[in-house]
Amino acid sequence: MKGIKQKLGRGVFISFEGIEGTGKSTQARLLSEYLAKKGRKTVLTEEPGGTPISLQIRKVLLSTKHKEMDYLTELLLYNAARIQHIKEKITPALAKGNIVITDRFSDSTAAYQGYGRGISLKLIDSLDRIATGRMRPDLSILLDLDVETGLMRNKHINKVDRLELEDVKFHKKVREGFLKLAAKEPKRIKLVKASRGIEAVHKEVVRIINSIALNEFRREHRLG
Ligand code: TMP
Repeated sequence: MKGIKQKLGRGVFISFEGIEGTGKSTQARLLSEYLAKKGRKTVLTEEPGGTPISLQIRKVLLSTKHKEMDYLTELLLYNAARIQHIKEKITPALAKGNIVITDRFSDSTAAYQGYGRGISLKLIDSLDRIATGRMRPDLSILLDLDVETGLMRNKHINKVDRLELEDVKFHKKVREGFLKLAAKEPKRIKLVKASRGIEAVHKEVVRIINSIALNEFRREHRLG
């Protein structure tokens, strides 16, 4: 796939995206294990998080006590956490030739703060330019699931954070946002139905990795 390698380093950058309860963390971990078994150096990380500072910001963002948080504060904090994440973790790992797999990246900001909160996409893009220099994953896997099922799955594992407390309408806007982003960038963002079992979804992710990445990616990273 043309452009699969970041200009920044020798590594490959992959993100998992989607609404709550789609199994992103599980799938990110399974892919990381699969690639590690193939002998690839992988770094598994998440947003907001991945560094001590970003984890502190995560706590502020997700605390259910912070009901009065302004949407703009929220947007800036996600960007602040991302700057730190890129600087301390993602860029150094890519420079060393690792495959970096992150559970969420900037598509989440466009989907949640843009389509979900209703902040102008222009403003989000301007901030993204400042925070990331418009760095994008080489490949993004969008796990898609209906909102009710996703929220129900999280309820079963007692996962509650500030954004999950939003109503179904909000999460539907976020899901639609993700689908619009995937339609805008079909080469980078690959849609995977997350309603199937964990193993079936993992197989589909591996199939995508092996088909898209074929030439350059496979040669560079000896996946095949
Ligand atoms: P998670 O660990 O469940 O993915 O929690 C992260 C929460 O933060 C989730 O509700 C999505 C939200 N989020 C945003 O709203 N904007 C962002 O840019 C990111 C990375 C996450």
